[in-house]
Amino acid sequence: MSELRSPIGILDSGFGGLSVALAVRAAMPAEDLVFAADCAFAPWGDRGADFIDQRVHAIVDFLRSERIKALVLACNTATAVSIDTLRTELSIPVVGIEPAVFPGVRETETGVVGTLATVRTIASERYRHLSANALAWAKENRPMPVSILDCPCPGLMECVERGEFKSAHTLTLLEHYIAPLLAKGTDRLVLGCTHYPFLHEAIEAIIRKLAPEKRVELIDPAPAVAKQLARTLATRKLCAPSETAGNVRFYATGANAAREAVLNALWQQNAQLEALQ
Ligand code: DGL
Repeated sequence: MSELRSPIGILDSGFGGLSVALAVRAAMPAEDLVFAADCAFAPWGDRGADFIDQRVHAIVDFLRSERIKALVLACNTATAVSIDTLRTELSIPVVGIEPAVFPGVRETETGVVGTLATVRTIASERYRHLSANALAWAKENRPMPVSILDCPCPGLMECVERGEFKSAHTLTLLEHYIAPLLAKGTDRLVLGCTHYPFLHEAIEAIIRKLAPEKRVELIDPAPAVAKQLARTLATRKLCAPSETAGNVRFYATGANAAREAVLNALWQQNAQLEALQ
């Protein structure tokens, strides 16, 4: 197989990474994709860095056996923990995802940005640097004081994994996390975990309920990640020839019928879930 026709590997702890895979598919329909989710060991976001790094490497080993030409860490938590080491270990390009605090501080009108992410992402050195840089930029470039409110959201990714996009439990959890942010004037909510874009309708419902008069925008970095991947492939002359449509394969640890049903709901097309050992 020529390298141009090799697939792009996309990984996450679960199905949240499909929000990135959908953006990649839309931006680069000719590319073959292999999506791998670590459902049996999820969530990652409440675990220690060593556990996460070990699971990321296990999934990367599988994707390398599929001869991928590029790797996308469609997981903020995995990016925060493992991207630096992976970039030194792998010869293929590695693209990650981080909470989009820069667009948040650039666009906020109230000066208050909220970040929803996992415990591990928010506690990470990488996120601390990112938000400090964004605030330093805002200090120089924005007329008003800008702050970022960090909100770790344990339990939220599990709602997506169970296919509970709007259940009473999901709405209660979201209200618990978002209410304090809205009370402090947040008008930009950074979706700092790839699972959360799949809760956008529930999040918008909570905002309508708690602050009907406010305009609060959700920021999902997935399209920017797809653009970055497209630029990287173009620079390395790795783009698939555009005349044929690419195929997408889905793998998960702990694959079963219930998980396949959630995959189908999120991908919005018939998709088969293969077992990843
Ligand atoms: N989807 C992941 C992220 O973007 C992590 C969810 C989890 O496993 O806790 O951080």
